[in-house]
Amino acid sequence: MNDRSQKQIYGKNMRILSGIQPTGAPHLGNYFAMMKPAIELQNQGEAFLFIADYHTLTTTPNHNTLRKQITELAADFLACGLNPEKAIFFRQSDVPELTELTWILSCITPVGLLERCHSYKDKVANGIAPNCGLFFYPVLMSADILMYKSNIVPVGKDQKQHVEVARDIAIKFNNIYGETFPLPEPQIKENVATISGTDGRKMSKSYGNTIPLFGNENQIKKLFMKIVTDSKTPEESKDPDSCSIFALYKLFANERQIEEMAARYRAGGLMYGTAKQELFEMYKVHFTPLREKREELVADPQYIESILRNGAEKAAITAKKTMEEVKEKVGLR
Ligand code: TRP
Repeated sequence: MNDRSQKQIYGKNMRILSGIQPTGAPHLGNYFAMMKPAIELQNQGEAFLFIADYHTLTTTPNHNTLRKQITELAADFLACGLNPEKAIFFRQSDVPELTELTWILSCITPVGLLERCHSYKDKVANGIAPNCGLFFYPVLMSADILMYKSNIVPVGKDQKQHVEVARDIAIKFNNIYGETFPLPEPQIKENVATISGTDGRKMSKSYGNTIPLFGNENQIKKLFMKIVTDSKTPEESKDPDSCSIFALYKLFANERQIEEMAARYRAGGLMYGTAKQELFEMYKVHFTPLREKREELVADPQYIESILRNGAEKAAITAKKTMEEVKEKVGLR
């Protein structure tokens, strides 16, 4: 569905919701797949964007690390253009109604539905001893989505199945207790569905192949220079579509620039080093102004805190309404 047809279906009350975990500096994959599309949607309807700190507890982070990462992630979002006057921006755990809804939803969630979740199965297959929270993670995420009666959920491809779980739970709840929740749609930007990391695999913190949005510029430059390519000589003609440098270049460039770069790949005579340098320049043009804004924000943690508190107060209005309705429907009132 494109942005225009979504608007026709949902009107200006279209609810957009997404969350991101405070697990450390967000990378280009997070930015292009979720942060940027979610921020753009703040102009299209009612956007709820939050820092999913409860989800991060499933990995038992260190106290100081978690606190620092929450503040920094908030600064990242604000620097990237999230406007707290337009979007409701908050910390997940500041709206305690969420855990109540999680419990109620868990009581209609089949265990098998959670057992089938790839993200859970992958983690277990990789040797993580799962805690109950990790298993429950999709129910908590469903509560996030349903609490705010969301229509559109911009996420990376890896979260698609979790939005489908939320849909299944919504259908089940509506069947048992009567029409309550709209069915959420995952929104996945197809052109950025899989963003390649510096080693050519999907960009992911667990592969150690990420390029962060912010941080020391020299170190970031080194990461761009490290991107793995094939071993074609400068003179040889190259295939842009199988090259990780080109895949990242496309995210920053406009159509004309993309075509020109593709033509230079095919013509031969382009050194991968040159392509990397040009990609890095594109990165700088995009992120340097945001970097300055971020530095100002990080220097004022109290301001960030006040934005998050304010957002939570607004989010709680909707959450309380939903919980009244849900409790009444299930027979708790
Ligand atoms: N689980 C998501 C992630 O790790 C973050 C998240 C939590 C989320 N709740 C959500 C995303 C609700 C979209 C909607 O990326």
